[in-house]
Amino acid sequence: MRKNIVAGNWKMNTTLPEGVKLAEEVNNALKTVEPKCDVIICVPFTHLFPVNNVIDTKKLGLGAENCADHRSGAYTGEVSAPMVASTGAQYVILGHSERRQYYGETAETLKEKVRLALDNNLTPIFCIGEVLEQRENGTYFDVVKAQIEDALFNLSAEDFSKLILAYEPVWAIGTGKTATDDQAQEIHAFIRKTIEDKYGKEVAENTSILYGGSCKPGNAKALFAKPDVDGGLIGGAALDAESFMGIVTAF
Ligand code: 13P
Repeated sequence: MRKNIVAGNWKMNTTLPEGVKLAEEVNNALKTVEPKCDVIICVPFTHLFPVNNVIDTKKLGLGAENCADHRSGAYTGEVSAPMVASTGAQYVILGHSERRQYYGETAETLKEKVRLALDNNLTPIFCIGEVLEQRENGTYFDVVKAQIEDALFNLSAEDFSKLILAYEPVWAIGTGKTATDDQAQEIHAFIRKTIEDKYGKEVAENTSILYGGSCKPGNAKALFAKPDVDGGLIGGAALDAESFMGIVTAF
């Protein structure tokens, strides 16, 4: 059966000392609760190795927020999947809408990143989601389907089964405007059906699909209660241990 997962995406926030402190706080909080979901924090590259040293990675998974689309070489400023894996990280967020929007990531580059992540035993947390105009003009089903098909449907069923998906409507990210639990359920069910049509029911049923976009302790319970919402990818609320734990314990 698929896993329930709550993952934090710290984005470009916290200095190294602040990040290590936040990771320690989450790690300590997890000593006193038995969460009904896997818990992951995805942190800036600079924080990966030091954070790995202060957390119990059996209880708190660690991920990067991106990796390069090449294995190694003359790509100044890039950080490769093997480098990420060598810090002890187990996950990597790929295709976040901010990377697509501000850094021009395309399905072609994302294909390479997914391949390299899998080759290095990193679990991709692959993000998809429409912008407001596409939500309003009703094309969001097509948009999300194309994002999945174009970057992921080259994978074998075995490799696809290693992914975590995150549906993040761009209009809900950092805006305080959450998709309603019914809106989330509608599109998550559609995403699962899209996977089923390609890879079959078993793969579809075993794929964790997270919701992201202004998920907070106050709305997490209703979202997670929906049958096709398997957890959350959390931005702002992951920057405070107490609010992040408030979402973790919504399961
Ligand atoms: P917020 O939770 O801040 O809306 O961000 C969501 C997100 O983009 C997680 O990847």
